[in-house]
Amino acid sequence: MYTSKNSSSKNSPILEARNICKYYDMGDTRITAVKNASLSVYPGEFVAIVGKSGSGKSTLMHMIGLLDTPSEGEIVLNGHLTKNFKENQLANIRNSEIGFIFQAFNLLQRTTALDNVILPLTYSNVPKADWNKKAIDMLTMVGLGNRLYNRSNELSGGQKQRVAIARALINNPSIILADEPTGNLDSKTGTEIMELFLHLNTQGKTIVLVTHDDDLAEIAQRKVVLRDGEIINQ
Ligand SMILES: Nc1ncnc2c1ncn2[C@@H]1O[C@H](COP(=O)(O)OP(=O)(O)OP(=O)(O)O)[C@@H](O)[C@H]1O
Ligand SMILES: [Mg+2]
Repeated sequence: MYTSKNSSSKNSPILEARNICKYYDMGDTRITAVKNASLSVYPGEFVAIVGKSGSGKSTLMHMIGLLDTPSEGEIVLNGHLTKNFKENQLANIRNSEIGFIFQAFNLLQRTTALDNVILPLTYSNVPKADWNKKAIDMLTMVGLGNRLYNRSNELSGGQKQRVAIARALINNPSIILADEPTGNLDSKTGTEIMELFLHLNTQGKTIVLVTHDDDLAEIAQRKVVLRDGEIINQ
């Protein structure tokens, strides 16, 4: 049964992937997207996952973010072995423990910045009376206090990603997972978004970030390199 968050102490990992594999069977051929990957992420860490296109970064992130299930191996999140979780348990743990940020922002179109950030609160235990203030505070923190009522299609790429970051943070997750969050941004805007991640990390947030940009990966404390689905160094 899934109960509390932040049950891990400083010394135990927030996230553990144990020998996870992902296969895709296409007729007679098997594509191995991730091969026997093991990874532990500790509270307060900033980890970058790097590797060439097709090396399995997104597949690995989707599995550790409980958006996809491993073909083999297991994911332990805050001490909870998620292997036999049913879909509703996975949805609960995702909503409370994980903030996911995508390259393509994945905001609701024609919906205001504020309502995009409120959405995860509607699946939480936060009283409805507090939703607005919490979301406004979060959007202000990411620098969008002046765009609360703009629809997402009225925002620049950098602003959309700030809304997505506010949405990912709103339920105070244990871990932030970001898959190429600067991939659709120009380099200046991308650097600003990376500075925001760095700021969040100095505030204590645990972050795992996928990038194929080695310069961007340098700001992380630790680099995990994937090659052909295998972790070749940590
Ligand atoms: N649904 C799927 N069915 C079949 N093969 C897949 C599927 N998803 C991913 N793959 C394959 O798994 C491998 C890893 O893909 P993945 O998307 O994880 O790479 P990536 O490192 O994120 O690449 P990029 O940097 O281009 O985003 C690729 O060879 C890809 O073709
Ligand atoms: Mg990818």
